Amino acid sequence: MAHMMRRLIILLGLMLSGVCCLSKTNHRKNSKHAGVTYEVTLDVYSGRENPTWEIDHTSPHYKSIEKAFKSVKKTPLGEHLGYHGFLVKTTEAHDRKEIWTVGPGKNKEIETMLLKSCCNAHLTEELETSSLQSCGCSIPRVVIDLVTRAINGIIHHFNGHSNNGTHIANKCKTRFEPHVWNAPGVIEYNNCYNYGTNRRTNTFAQPGRGSGRILNFANVDANEVLSACARDGLTRLNGPNAGDDCLMALVIWPGIDFHFYRLDENGFWSHKPGRTAAIDTDHSMNRMDDIEGADHGPYTVFAGYLGVGKHININ
Ligand SMILES: *[C@@H]1O[C@H](CO)[C@@H](O)[C@H](O)[C@H]1NC(C)=O
Repeated sequence: MAHMMRRLIILLGLMLSGVCCLSKTNHRKNSKHAGVTYEVTLDVYSGRENPTWEIDHTSPHYKSIEKAFKSVKKTPLGEHLGYHGFLVKTTEAHDRKEIWTVGPGKNKEIETMLLKSCCNAHLTEELETSSLQSCGCSIPRVVIDLVTRAINGIIHHFNGHSNNGTHIANKCKTRFEPHVWNAPGVIEYNNCYNYGTNRRTNTFAQPGRGSGRILNFANVDANEVLSACARDGLTRLNGPNAGDDCLMALVIWPGIDFHFYRLDENGFWSHKPGRTAAIDTDHSMNRMDDIEGADHGPYTVFAGYLGVGKHININ
């Protein structure tokens, strides 16, 4: 008898839990339809955080993004300096986040649509950079110009003598080990400053933040970034000689962004452009022993060398 009762109770419990779960799924389905928003990131920077904006159902771009997100294949982000492509994330309070990436020059129409979605207003078919500015999109004009050209297959090269056959004397023991940096959960949270200083903080480190005063983004130039690095405990150098420390080089995209390279044990330079993969080639795909002559893409100012000692504060 007691046995029967127990079975009955278990059965009842199962039925009840079934009811509860069924209604839960229904509820989730409904809220999903109304609640999905898309977070669009233009992946273009190496040092600072990328511009990101949110698209909800009130945006005129909502339908095309929804359609593209569901039907267009993911393509990997680019690996070199400047425009790397777009990331689109669904954001919904109680759901798993999904990410979709569009690599540079992989799908001109979709990339153009995503760039335009930075606006609140409808735009003409022509991708006019001036209208992108006037519609409230706060991405700097030069960045929009660079991305527009890259989408259309026009890539700017700068320098291009990355290999002059002389290796700088180097006591630093860092090795080019891309698998360490390119693993999921690491690659997207560590940038060129993390990589250059060989400090994995998972915070997309910013010069000066570790020491309490982050660099001033309104004025990104050599002196601003070098000073912020000095506050973090790095040593400003007059030339490519760091003594017992490790050697890092700084380049600047004037007014926009900063980028670091580091010299590895083998005498070649390597780097990690933003949230993209750690690589040992420059913007022209050449290996680098002469960092001053390398192709830095839009980072046209060579700002100098820094020494990375043991006691630094990176965050
Ligand atoms: C090679 O480049 C480095 C700087 O990156 C420079 O110090 C060195 O003098 C160059 N060597 C030659 C032979 O030009």
